[in-house]
Amino acid sequence: METSFWRSLWRTKPVDEIVREGGGGEGGELKRSMTLIQLTFFSVGATLGTGIFVVMGEATPLAGPAVVLAFLLSAITALFSALSYAELAGTIPVSGSSYSYTYATMGELVAWVCGWCLILEYGVSVSAVAVGWAQYLNDFLDKAFGVKIPDAWSQAPDKGGVINITAVLIVAAMTFLLMRGASESAKVNTAMVFFKLGLLIFFIVVGFTGFNSGNLSPFMPLGFAGVSAAASQVFFSYIGFDAASTAGEEAKNPKRDLPLAIILSLAIVTIVYVLVALVAVGALPWTELDSDTEASLSAILTDVTGATWPALLLSAGAVIAITSVVLTVLYGQTRILFAMSRDGLVPPLFQKINRRTSVPVANTLVVGGFVSLLAALVPLDHLTDATSIGTLFAFALVNLGVIVLRRTKPHLPRSFKTPLYPLTPLLGVFFCLYVMQGLRPVTWLVFALWTLAGLVFYFGYSRRHSRLLRAQREMR
Ligand code: ALA
Repeated sequence: METSFWRSLWRTKPVDEIVREGGGGEGGELKRSMTLIQLTFFSVGATLGTGIFVVMGEATPLAGPAVVLAFLLSAITALFSALSYAELAGTIPVSGSSYSYTYATMGELVAWVCGWCLILEYGVSVSAVAVGWAQYLNDFLDKAFGVKIPDAWSQAPDKGGVINITAVLIVAAMTFLLMRGASESAKVNTAMVFFKLGLLIFFIVVGFTGFNSGNLSPFMPLGFAGVSAAASQVFFSYIGFDAASTAGEEAKNPKRDLPLAIILSLAIVTIVYVLVALVAVGALPWTELDSDTEASLSAILTDVTGATWPALLLSAGAVIAITSVVLTVLYGQTRILFAMSRDGLVPPLFQKINRRTSVPVANTLVVGGFVSLLAALVPLDHLTDATSIGTLFAFALVNLGVIVLRRTKPHLPRSFKTPLYPLTPLLGVFFCLYVMQGLRPVTWLVFALWTLAGLVFYFGYSRRHSRLLRAQREMR
């Protein structure tokens, strides 16, 4: 009895079954219409947001001008994991992302923990993104009309806020849109990405006019420890490059395009981030950016140009740009819970579809409520750090998954193989753990409690309702 209990925790879901459920590459429930460019832009769209517009400003005091290095260090961490994502996405091209990959490789319990971490990567990150949105909205209102929403209603509690209603507003609006069946179409998303990239290029060009190389020295005033701490914080800005792996069932040619889209999107955001960070610390002495600076990119433009319009334009653009991240990532979260519910690991409520709109209404409402609550009450840095720690853990599992699948299913057709195996996935795990250790003890505590809650839920509910377990019992 005990052995079978132990074994059942590691039971994997067969790869062909996962692929069959997801349409088997032949077109399942979802329409296969996304091209390579659209997939790449889907990932870029989910990535460019509060991280570069807000968190960069908060991380700069930790590292000084070497915040540029912090962006590179985070990019390297992301790169190893991106290679692993690319291999698994090309082998198991479905929509459940790392949750599905771990189910196929390391079994149900690990898949559950991974899915639970994805709630941090997707759900909690939306709360963080919404808090950043509120900052830019306020900055815009101030610059355009000279009015500001009172701090009590537009700030996180560490900055004088009571309840951040402004952040709740954007979450509620996007939840409402999703409930009406509006998932951002690939075309709208592509346009949005061009808009965001244009906005950041605008920042780079205008900011560069105030570039003073003297601002870059000393380059590393707080040593490597500072860079490492800043890297842990800015890692948040890279989260989302894996989003294409949640659209596996909508890709036209998933085996070829998913791996490429993941790597291309990471390359694009890395170039943009490093340039933005370099221009930011070159344009303004880093000591003038402290963690109280709101809407930091906009503040830099005001300082460089002395005029209001460039900063006004940037703030207005950021409000629109960040809105699209809220919509895409919120949508991603409902999808992941939908997949977990299909497997019986979360209640059936999460896969109940409204017949008229084809939307999982209750799922969307629960997610919207949870995200709003956190956005209303929790400071931004806690939200971004919780997102990062959960994501890094999920990424580490994806790296391990590559190793496990190569050993257990060496002959499975793989459209992309990570180079220098097993060095790359091992380095992937190492870098994830390295960046994780740079996060604060309080973040670790939250993560431990979160994981514990997840385990309680798994043993209390998911295990007993698991479809895989039931199917395997019936076969016996
Ligand atoms: N990477 C996303 C952002 O920065 C979560 O907003």
